[in-house]
Order: sequence, then structure tokens, then C-alpha cells
Amino acid sequence: MNIKKIIAIASAKGGVGKSSITALAALSLSKDYKVGILDADVYGPNQHILFEIENSKPEIISKNSKKCFKPLTSYGIEIASMGSIIDDDKAAIWRGPMLSGAIKQLMTTTDWGHLDILFIDMPPGTGDAYLTVCSEIPLDGVILVSTPNVLAIGDTFKSISTFNKLDIPILGYIKNTTLPIKNTPEINFGPDIPEITSIPFDENIYNMSLNKSLNLTADLKIFLEKLINE
Ligand SMILES: Nc1ncnc2c1ncn2[C@@H]1O[C@H](COP(=O)(O)OP(=O)(O)OP(=O)(O)O)[C@@H](O)[C@H]1O
Ligand SMILES: [Mg+2]
Repeated sequence: MNIKKIIAIASAKGGVGKSSITALAALSLSKDYKVGILDADVYGPNQHILFEIENSKPEIISKNSKKCFKPLTSYGIEIASMGSIIDDDKAAIWRGPMLSGAIKQLMTTTDWGHLDILFIDMPPGTGDAYLTVCSEIPLDGVILVSTPNVLAIGDTFKSISTFNKLDIPILGYIKNTTLPIKNTPEINFGPDIPEITSIPFDENIYNMSLNKSLNLTADLKIFLEKLINE
């Protein structure tokens, strides 16, 4: 595996925009860098839908007499998602060990090319999936996503404490406003967790026309380019 940086995009709270931001981040870099996405949300994968590859199946190839998946590609981005391999409703009944096994297998049996950066789109919560990703995948760091909402901010503190316990560097957070609301609470996770960028409510993001919103990710792109080139 020849991947320069592996970055998880995470939040304990569901629905705050992890998957949308993962896809936006990947798209914003895709012209200049080799980018991959591992959708670790085995119960509710979304990347295959965001990249409109839900009807494609990855090719199975043999490499050094081992069978592996060729990642699907969209805009040159290599994408591995359980959503392209099995039906969503099959994964829905899996329990802890199967879930962990699935994430690990998806990571290790995907024949990733040489990548500058691989994003891991994390599922919500801080349970088994966090432990698997953090113990099985050599993460360079995590970027947190929070909406400006008291409950989301509270849950993000839970993510911070989990990643601290697992010794995963927290690179910063992205404030993502998923609703067209003006007066929202301040976000402050302390001096060690800076705001990387703030993404406003945007109808194109809402309607999954992500390519029309790449202007909103200019600061995020600069941040990620620095990371790749450090
Ligand atoms: N900045 C934004 N402007 C408008 N809509 C947004 C924005 N960010 C996300 N959304 C919308 O909010 C919803 C949740 O986003 P998304 O699925 O990316 O969140 P998530 O954190 O990955 O959710 P889950 O925890 O279920 O995996 C989606 O309908 C998405 O289109
Ligand atoms: Mg998601």
C-alpha cells in the first residue's frame, strides 16, 4: 500500500455532513492529486451514491495469488464502499465483529493505487467502527465535522475524547451549516483544535451537485495540500 496520507473525516453526531465533506474534499483535490475514499460507514454507505456509481460493481482481480477488489473510480477518485459490494439491508443486521471485519477487509482487499491522500468517511457514533479504523488503519489524523448546534457540539467533544484516548492526532474541525439558519451557537473546541474552514448551508451540496460548490472548499483544499506536501 503506497498512500501518503490517510485522513479520517468524523463526528459522533449523525447527519452533520461527514460524507458530503469527504466527497467535496476529494473532488477539490482530484485534478491535481491522486485521491481515494474508503467509505467506512458499512451500515449506511453513501459515497457510491454521491459519486453516482451505485450501479457499478468493483472488478475482482488476482494479485500475488490473492483476490482483491479494483476500486471503482469517479473523477479519477478511487472509491471503496460496501455499498458497491453488498446490499445495504444485508449489512444492516451485522453486529460488532462482522462490522469490524468488513471495514478491515474493505481497506486491505482493495487494490489501491499510489495515492497522495485517502479519506476515510467515518460512520456516526464512537463505537466499534472507531476502534477498528483507529487500530487497523494507520491514520495520519482526523478532521472533525460539527454543525453549529448544541447537541452536535456536545457529541463532537465525545469524539475528541475518543480520538485522544486512541492517540489519533486531531487536525482541526470543519464547521458545516446543514440548515439555512442564521443565529447559531459559537463553536470552540479549545486552542489545539482549530477551525479549518466554515461551510455555509448550500443548496448545491443539499442536492448533491457537489461540483457546483467547489468554491466553498478553497480553504479546505489549501489545508489538505499543505498536509500532502509536508
Ligand atoms: N453545507 C451543507 N448545505 C446543505 N446541505 C448539506 C450541507 N452539508 C450536508 N448537507 C446535507 O445534510 C444531510 C446530511 O449530510 P451527510 O450525509 O453528508 O452527513 P453525514 O454526517 O455523513 O451523515 P451520517 O452520519 O448519516 O453518515 C444530507 O442531506 C446533505 O445533503
Ligand atoms: Mg455519512
